[in-house]
Parts: sequence; structure tokens; C-alpha cells
Amino acid sequence: MAKPKTQFVCQNCGTVHSRWAGKCEGCGEWNTIVEEDPMGGIGSGPGKVPKKGRAVTLTALSGETEEAPRIHTGISELDRATGGGFVRGSAVLIGGDPGIGKSTLLMQAAAALSRGGHRIIYVSGEEAVAQVRLRAQRLGAADTEVLLAAETNVEDILATVSEGKRPDLVIIDSIQTLWSDTADSAPGTVTQVRTGVQAMIRFAKQTGAAMVLVGHVTKDGQIAGPRVVEHMVDAVLYFEGDRGHHYRILRTVKNRFGPTDEIGVFEMSDKGLREVTNPSELFLGERNAKSPGAAVFAGMEGTRPVLVEVQALVAATSLGTPRRAVVGWDSSRLAMILAVLEAHCGVRLGQHDVYLNVAGGYRISEPAADMAIASALVSSLAGIALPADHVFFGEISLSGAVRPVSQTAQRLKEAEKLGFSGAMLPATSAELPKGSSARWTMIEDLPDLVSR
Ligand code: TYD
Ligand code: MG
Repeated sequence: MAKPKTQFVCQNCGTVHSRWAGKCEGCGEWNTIVEEDPMGGIGSGPGKVPKKGRAVTLTALSGETEEAPRIHTGISELDRATGGGFVRGSAVLIGGDPGIGKSTLLMQAAAALSRGGHRIIYVSGEEAVAQVRLRAQRLGAADTEVLLAAETNVEDILATVSEGKRPDLVIIDSIQTLWSDTADSAPGTVTQVRTGVQAMIRFAKQTGAAMVLVGHVTKDGQIAGPRVVEHMVDAVLYFEGDRGHHYRILRTVKNRFGPTDEIGVFEMSDKGLREVTNPSELFLGERNAKSPGAAVFAGMEGTRPVLVEVQALVAATSLGTPRRAVVGWDSSRLAMILAVLEAHCGVRLGQHDVYLNVAGGYRISEPAADMAIASALVSSLAGIALPADHVFFGEISLSGAVRPVSQTAQRLKEAEKLGFSGAMLPATSAELPKGSSARWTMIEDLPDLVSR
């Protein structure tokens, strides 16, 4: 049977369809399907001869180095997110919205590494060398030996980075500008992006250079998003943040060489990104502790505690169907808490609009925030402020029971460090820190919490 000449690829998730459709069945996005040439893809180039492989036993490899060889940037928030620095011979994808600060972060990292004597090549496909230099100047990095190149063709880039001494780190900004002679599709399509990334990964593996790939998160489907190459790289970091706020979070979503639940926190200033070593102080900075509906959640991000304020507003509705608006949290989890409050505590919110906001544009993913949210909701409804010197954490089950969460001791220690003198936490919590003067209120279940 003859192979089909073209295929239809979703630019958002990479799903291949046999014919064009308005909506991708893979990810549900609209208008993301583009016709591409399948033969232009990875591993299908001309002259590919099957090579013989060889398997080795694990014990034969036991003499190899135990730790992955890393390049520390000295920017501790970045090193924390990557699990201790960039790994030689590996590829890292840094994704994020356009304009969030990816190029800024990487130029700062490049400058720091260059000062440490590393050979860094920064390949920009989006800006001319002069523009990149201007940014470097603004960041105080113009006096470093970082090598700049403005290229988009994969073969040209490979020729550039192969020239001279081997680089320690190569930055490709961005994968969406890559295009290869071997692929026929337009630049920015899934085929081109994958072919380019594959070539960069091969270069990293062959030379032992660390490869950093920048990928813009794209809203419309004409350009492939970073998700289509996530499976190919060794680590995936997303740079997040709200345009309205100055701070940025570098979040690890995949890491073959380290933990995936770490975050790095930065603040965007006029001189580039500044590290934020104590994020709790940042998120609690503008707190108005006396107003009803606000509760401080003692959360964890990987190994690091993060205290953040959750704010609820419960108001009588004028609509037939009351509004539920959530920023920074999971809206189905809010629906669950409202249902539990109604079923087990008699708190009826069917005639109320509910707005929930996590301060500073931060996003909470932990179920441990349940208790802080429930407290904020009840506080707003009752119009009574919660104790300002308390933190809240604990997961709420559908039965209304408050369940213990991990790392109780770290959460409480951080709260004490920041001047909180009490906490409401699950009654069954283990590992409470000893010798502390704080007041701990052990909560059994949700009715217990509401009655206090
Ligand atoms: P940039 O790194 O170009 O974003 P990305 O590469 O993710 O598209 O950052 C762009 C934004 O950052 C831009 O709106 C200006 C701002 N910025 C500062 O606030 N301070 C600075 O020192 C720099 C270099 C940029
Ligand atoms: Mg950029």
C-alpha cells in the first residue's frame, strides 16, 4: 500500500490525523491542525543505514560516575529548579509565555557561567546579535565572553556550535524558529520543531554539551508549542508568572536527573531577574490580615515551604445560577469543598456568588490547601476575620474529615519563622516539631472547623 503523501498534525499536542478537522481529538483545541510532510520527520532522512547495537549489563557500568556531571550556574533558584545545575550531554526545555522572561533568565545564566570560565554559545533565532547584546548590557552581562549567533537553520547552527573548542552549554532561543533543510514543512510546524530539537539533542549527546532549548507557549495553533517536544528532552521547566505581577516561578515538570516538584522564584526588575530566596515573604507582603475571608495557607513546593494567602469573597447572588470564579486554584476542588460544607456543616452557598483568589497570582496545586480555603469561605460568609497569626493546612475528604498532609513539621517551622504563633491543622498530624511555643489547634473534621 502506498504511504499517504501528507499527514495532518495538531500543532498543540502533535496528534496525527488522517484528514483535516477543525478540532483536535487529542487535546480538544480548535484550529490547530496543519498539513505536513511525514517524510520530513525524524529519522527518515536519506542515507540512513541501520547500525548494529550492543547491550551492556548494569554491573559492567558500575564503574561509571554515580552523579550526573552538572554545570552549576550559581543562580541558586535556577540550580534548584534544574536539580543542581544543567547536566552535561542532556537537553532541557524551558517553556513559557512570550515575554515572560525566558531570554532574560538564560542571558543571566549564560553570563554567570561565562564568568565561571565556561564556554557558552547563545543562538538567537528571534533577535539580531545587536539586540541580544543590548539586553546583555542592560543585565550587566555585556562584558562577558558569551558567544552570540543569530541563526535559525539547523545545519548552520550545528556548523556554528561545532566550530572551535567544544561548548559547555548551548542555548537555542527558540525552538519555534528552527528549520532544517531535511524537512519540507514551514518553520514552526511540529515536523520542523521536532527535527530541529532532535538534531540539537543529538549534538548534546555526542559532544557532552548541555543544551538549553527555549519554547514559547503558543495560543494559536499555527506554531507548534513546547509540548510537542517534551517527551524528547531530559528535563522540562516552565517559566510562569502573571504579567500584572513582577515575580516569576520556574517550575520543573519533568526531570530525568532530579526531583520534579521544585520551584525557583524570581522577581523581574529593570535590571533583569532577581532571585527570591524567601518566597513566603513575597506572597505575604501586602497582606491585610484584619479582613474577613483571608487565610494563610502553609504550603510546600518540593522541599521548600511557601506561605501564601488565599482570599474568598462570598456574596448574595443576583443571578439565577450563582457565579463561581477561581484564580490560582482548581475550580472543581472548590466545588467539592462547597458541597462538603453544605452536606456536613449546613453552610448553604447555593444563593451566593463565590470568588476565590490566591494572592500574588500564585498557583496552588496541593490538596492540603483545602482547610485554608474552607476557612476563608466560612470567614467571608460570616463576616468574621480569621485569627491573623494563624496558618491553615489539611486535606478535606468528601466525608468532611480533615486528613493529615505530608511535611507537617516543615510547614509549622516556616510559619513560626515568619512570626505566626498558631496553626489549624489535622488532628491526626504526625511529626510535630518539639519545644515550640506556638498554639496548634488540631481539627478533627470540617464541622469542627466551622464551629470554631
Ligand atoms: P524576555 O526575556 O524577552 O521574554 P521571553 O524571552 O520569555 O519572550 O523578557 C521580556 C520582558 O521582560 C519585557 O517585557 C521586558 C522585561 N524586562 C524587564 O523588565 N527587565 C529587564 O531587565 C529585561 C531584560 C526585560
Ligand atoms: Mg525571548
